[in-house]
Amino acid sequence: MQLHLSEPPLTQGECALVYCFAASGGNGRFPLPPEIASWDEKVWSGLVAETVQEQGFQGKPNSSVALRLTGEIRKLVLVGLGDPAALTLEALRRATANGLRQAHSLKAKQVMLSLPETGLDRVRVVQAVAEACLLVAHRDNRFKSSAKGEEENSFSVQEVTLLVPGLAQDRPNYEAALQRAIEMAAGTILARELVAAPANIVTPLALADTARQLAQEYGLEVEILGQEECEALGMGAFLGVAKASDLPPQFIHLTYKPAQGDPVTKLALVGKGLTFDSGGLNIKTDSRSIAMMKTDMGGAAAVLGAARALAALKPQVELHFIVAATENMISGHAIHPGDILTASNQKTIEVNNTDAEGRLTLADALVFAEKLGVDAILDLATLTGACVIALGEEIAGLFTPDETLAQELQQAANLSGEKIWRLPLEEGYFEGLSSIVADMKNTGPRSGGSITAALFLKQFVEKTPWAHLDIAGPVWTEKDAGYNNKGATGYGVRTLVEWVLGRQAAAAPS
Ligand code: BES
Ligand code: MN
Ligand code: ZN
Repeated sequence: MQLHLSEPPLTQGECALVYCFAASGGNGRFPLPPEIASWDEKVWSGLVAETVQEQGFQGKPNSSVALRLTGEIRKLVLVGLGDPAALTLEALRRATANGLRQAHSLKAKQVMLSLPETGLDRVRVVQAVAEACLLVAHRDNRFKSSAKGEEENSFSVQEVTLLVPGLAQDRPNYEAALQRAIEMAAGTILARELVAAPANIVTPLALADTARQLAQEYGLEVEILGQEECEALGMGAFLGVAKASDLPPQFIHLTYKPAQGDPVTKLALVGKGLTFDSGGLNIKTDSRSIAMMKTDMGGAAAVLGAARALAALKPQVELHFIVAATENMISGHAIHPGDILTASNQKTIEVNNTDAEGRLTLADALVFAEKLGVDAILDLATLTGACVIALGEEIAGLFTPDETLAQELQQAANLSGEKIWRLPLEEGYFEGLSSIVADMKNTGPRSGGSITAALFLKQFVEKTPWAHLDIAGPVWTEKDAGYNNKGATGYGVRTLVEWVLGRQAAAAPS
């Protein structure tokens, strides 16, 4: 999809479709957006006002009206925004996606989109609307035969022009916002496609290849450690998980450094990279959940997607992207329940459940990240079903002992619209992981399962500020919702990017 910025007016010659946002006017009255009202009077003899009235359209969120007209504007979509005073960037993204879905069903190829006047920062508005356009338009036809892919799975709208009043006065800022949206969407789409691809395609080697390609394209440093190199580093927890797989484990480390000058901060982003999670010998017995376990590299996908976006946006920050990639399988080589593993920080773990494998791989990844001497570590992981039970499928769980990190991440999520909710790292619950024979077990009681998982991870970070996002719920959706289409969501990429850009802005106000 092509995105452009332009000053109003509504039409500049021929245009397939125009769409506008419409706020509700209170007391049941609904004012047409002024630009539409004047067209309606001049060209359409009040047809729009009449239709809007007839259909009872009041500009409420999730509502819209689509019309066929004459003159330069052949098709018009009005999209409800609700009370403009209560409007959020995320509501605007959803309304945008709603309008583009309408444009798609009207078979429009080219769209003019008139931005609303709101209390929100206008540069942020442009970014959010552009993100929503690019994300709702994404279709993944890779695994459909081409005819089938064409017929049921292509998006009609090819070109969207955002009409920005006052564009000329602040052009560079708006252009930068558009560029951020483009890179964030591209990173999100990379993450979606990694998550959606099955385990016979996205293997640990394929994740490593993706990292190599990013390195080549954007000039990043790349280091891929194989089995022996991981052994040399003492990564017994990660390698314990990898043992049963016929595919070689790959420990991926990508580094971005600013081209010039010192970085204002150094950060590590760590993603759980299980390309398939069978459960191991504690095999998953529910056929529906095992069939979804290609998504167990959703953290890795978010980290690689963020790497792509950030490498393109070039912040003045040093970034380390880390993924311990493997599969959790069964074979004669599999770890047995009860085996004791030694992680790279020398801590010993009794594996009382082989299905709690993500935390084992992350243990060594976190130790590796801390040795880099970074200022903060953030991990993303499809870690526990318990987190999905607690927060549902749209919200990730945030765990951190660090108040500043908690605030920064909440702020980043408010900007991205990706929902997170902080859950407690209740230290007393660590007792649930106490082992008779080793330093700890890898699982505790069923209750509070996402908390004990986070407390387990905490044992592998000594002193660096650290936060963990349990993204088991939001990496996938069964239905079209807002700017997400059914399937992989690419969750996490935009929050990661906003977090890093926010850290940069805070360190070096310009
Ligand atoms: N990958 C799963 C967590 C998961 C569950 C992700 C559902 C997405 C949807 C993880 O490795 C796992 O199996 N966790 C176990 C932990 C248990 C054994 C303590 C779980 O949540 O059941
Ligand atoms: Mn598991
Ligand atoms: Zn898993």
